[in-house]
Amino acid sequence: MSKGKYYISTPIYYPSSNLHIGHTYCTVMADAMARFKRLSGYDVHFLTGTDEHGQKIETIAKEKGVTPQEYVDGVVAGIKDLWKTMEISYDDFIRTTEDRHVKRVQEIFMKMYDKGDIYKGEYEGMYCTPCESFWTESQLVDGKCPDCGRPVQKAKEEAYFFKLSKYADKLLELYETNPEFLMPDSRRNEMTAFIKQGLEDLCVSRSTFDWGIPVPVDEKHVIYVWLDALTNYITALGYPDAPEQYDKYWPANVHLVGKEIVRFHSIIWPAMLMSIEVPLPKQVLGHGWLLLGGEKVSKSKAAKGSDVIDPVVLIERYGIDALKYFLLREYTFGQDGMFTNEVMLKRMNYDLANDLGNLLSRTVSMIEKYNGGFVPDPQGEETDIDKELKEIATTAGKKVEEHMDKFEFNLALDKIWEAVRRANKYIDENMPWVLAKNEADKPRLDTVLHNLAEVLRIVSVLIYPFMHTTSDKMRKQLGLWYADVVWEDAFTFDMMSGEQVKKGAAIFPRLDIEKELEELYAMNAPKEENIPLELKDDIEFDDFDKIDLRVGTILEAEKHPKADKLLVFQVQMGTEKRQIISGVANYFKPEECVGKNVIVVANLKPRKLRGLESKGMIIFADDIADGKEVLKFVTTDANNGNPVA
Ligand code: MSP
Repeated sequence: MSKGKYYISTPIYYPSSNLHIGHTYCTVMADAMARFKRLSGYDVHFLTGTDEHGQKIETIAKEKGVTPQEYVDGVVAGIKDLWKTMEISYDDFIRTTEDRHVKRVQEIFMKMYDKGDIYKGEYEGMYCTPCESFWTESQLVDGKCPDCGRPVQKAKEEAYFFKLSKYADKLLELYETNPEFLMPDSRRNEMTAFIKQGLEDLCVSRSTFDWGIPVPVDEKHVIYVWLDALTNYITALGYPDAPEQYDKYWPANVHLVGKEIVRFHSIIWPAMLMSIEVPLPKQVLGHGWLLLGGEKVSKSKAAKGSDVIDPVVLIERYGIDALKYFLLREYTFGQDGMFTNEVMLKRMNYDLANDLGNLLSRTVSMIEKYNGGFVPDPQGEETDIDKELKEIATTAGKKVEEHMDKFEFNLALDKIWEAVRRANKYIDENMPWVLAKNEADKPRLDTVLHNLAEVLRIVSVLIYPFMHTTSDKMRKQLGLWYADVVWEDAFTFDMMSGEQVKKGAAIFPRLDIEKELEELYAMNAPKEENIPLELKDDIEFDDFDKIDLRVGTILEAEKHPKADKLLVFQVQMGTEKRQIISGVANYFKPEECVGKNVIVVANLKPRKLRGLESKGMIIFADDIADGKEVLKFVTTDANNGNPVA
C-alpha cells in the first residue's frame, strides 16, 4: 500500500560545461531521499534535467563554432552519462529545449500576460551574464555580481516585466504562516529581509540575443531564462495541457536547491505560481556549498587547485558508493563544507573499509569457521551487552527516519554507523576466537555470531537508500541474495537463524591515503583550458585605429615634487623627447626605470598633473607578486619612435 506521493526535484543544471562534485552533491542527496521514500512505501517522482537557454550558452556555442542546440546536445549527453554511471534513480529528465517544455512555457507566459501581470516597459540595469541575473546598482557588491563576484555589464532594453512587487506581501505572509515552506531558517530570514527592502518588478524578456523561447506576443523577445527554467517543475508533469502526472504529483514536496538560487525559488517561483493560480510547492530547501580552498567549487577554481573534483575520475578510482557515502556523511545539510581529497579518502578508509568492511568480513569468516557457514540460533539468556547491541541496531531505523525527515543525511548515516561500531566493539568484548576454543562456550559463541549477523542484516537494509550496491554485496555474503530489501525488517532481530553465509571480496578495499593523494594531485596538474576572459565591450577597428602607439626609451626618471604617487619621465621617441608622468611611484624606484624601452600612447591629449605637463601615457601590465598587486613594464627591443600596431 502506497503511503502517498512524494515529488522531489533538483535544480536543472546549466549545460555550459561538464558537471563537478558540487552538482553531484545536490543530485546524490535528492537520489538518496527518493530511494529512501520509495523504500518507505511512497509513490515517488524524482525530477532532474538541464537548463539550456540563455546568453551564456549562445556565446559559448558561438566560440566553439557550433549551434547552441548542437552544443547543449553534447554536454547534456555527458550529464546523462554521469547520472547513469552514478545510478541516479530519476523518474524524468527535462530539457528546456524539448518541445513539451517550450510550448508549455509559452502557455504559462500567456496566462500571466492575460492576467495583467506582465506588461511592456524599458529595462535599465546591471547584468551578470554567467548568472543570467539582472541587478540594481544598490544590490551590487563592490560593483560586482553579489552571487558570483564577477563583473557586470550595463544593459538597457525594451522588455516585458512581471509584476513581482504585487506579490511581496503575499510572499511575506507565506513565510510567516508556513515557515516550513523555506528552510533552513537562515535562508528564510535572508529572503524576508530581501523582500522587505522592496521588491521590484522582474524583467522577464530579453531582446539582445536569440537563444531562448520566443515571447508569444512579441517574437523579437525571448523569455528570461529563469522564468523559462523555473516552470520546468510543472511543465515536466504536463501542465497545463496534459495534466495526468501534474494532478498526481503536484504540488512538489521538495525543491532541493543550492543556497545561491534560493531567491529564485522562494520569491520568483511562488509569485509566478500565485499569478497562474497554481498551488505552491510544499518546501524549498537550500543546501550549502562544497568549497575548494575557501571558495565555491567551480570548474575554473579547480584548474588552479590540486584536489580532483571530477566525479567521473573519483568514481573510477573509488566506486560510486564510496563517493556517495562521503558526500552524504561528511557535510551538514544547509551549511558550506570544505572539499578536499584528503577528507574524502579518510572518510572512505575509516568508515567504509575499517568499520563496515571489517565487520562484514570478520563476521562472515567466523560463521564459516566456527559454524560451517550457517548462522546459529541464539542460546540462553541475553546479557546486558546483547541487549544493548540489539537496542542500538533495532532502533537505528527510527532514528534514520527522523533525521531523513529533516534532510540530515549525515546524522542518519551516523546512527547506522553507531550500530556498526557497537558491533565491532561487541566482537572485541566477546572474543569469539577464545569462545571457540572451549566446547562449553559454544552456546555463547552461537549467540554472538547470530547477533552479529542480525546487525549486519539490519545495516544492509538501512544503507540501501544511500548505497544500494553495497547493500546488495553485503546481502549476498549474508546469504540474503534471494530476499527483497524491506524497510520494516530493520526493526526486528530474529531473521538470520539458519541462513548460509558466503565470504566474498572486501566490499571496500583499504586505501593507501598518501599514495592516493599523490596520484590524484599529479592528475590535476594544471591542464590547458580555454576559458574566455571577461572583457570590456567590443570596439570597432576604427576606434582602435585612432590610437597612435609608439616605442619610447626612458632617459630620465624622478619623483614628482608635489605628488607622492607620480613619477616624471623624460622619454625619447625617435626625433622627439617629451615628458610623461605616470602614477607608478609606489611600484618603481626612479633609477630602475631608466633605460626601459616602453610602449607609449603617443597621441593622448596632453594634460597637467600638479603643475607639470604630461604628454602621452606609458603602458604597464598588472601583476601579482607575494599576494600583492604590482605593475610590470611592458618592454620591447624595437627602436624608439617606431609605431606599435
Ligand atoms: N540552471 C540553474 C538552476 C535552475 S533551477 C530552475 C543553475 N544551474 S547550475 O548548473 O549553476 O547549478 C545549480 C546547482 O548546482 C546549485 O543550486 C547547487 O545545487 C549545485 N551546485 C553547483 N556548485 C555547487 C557547489 N560548489 N556546492 C554545492 N552545490 C553546488 O543554477
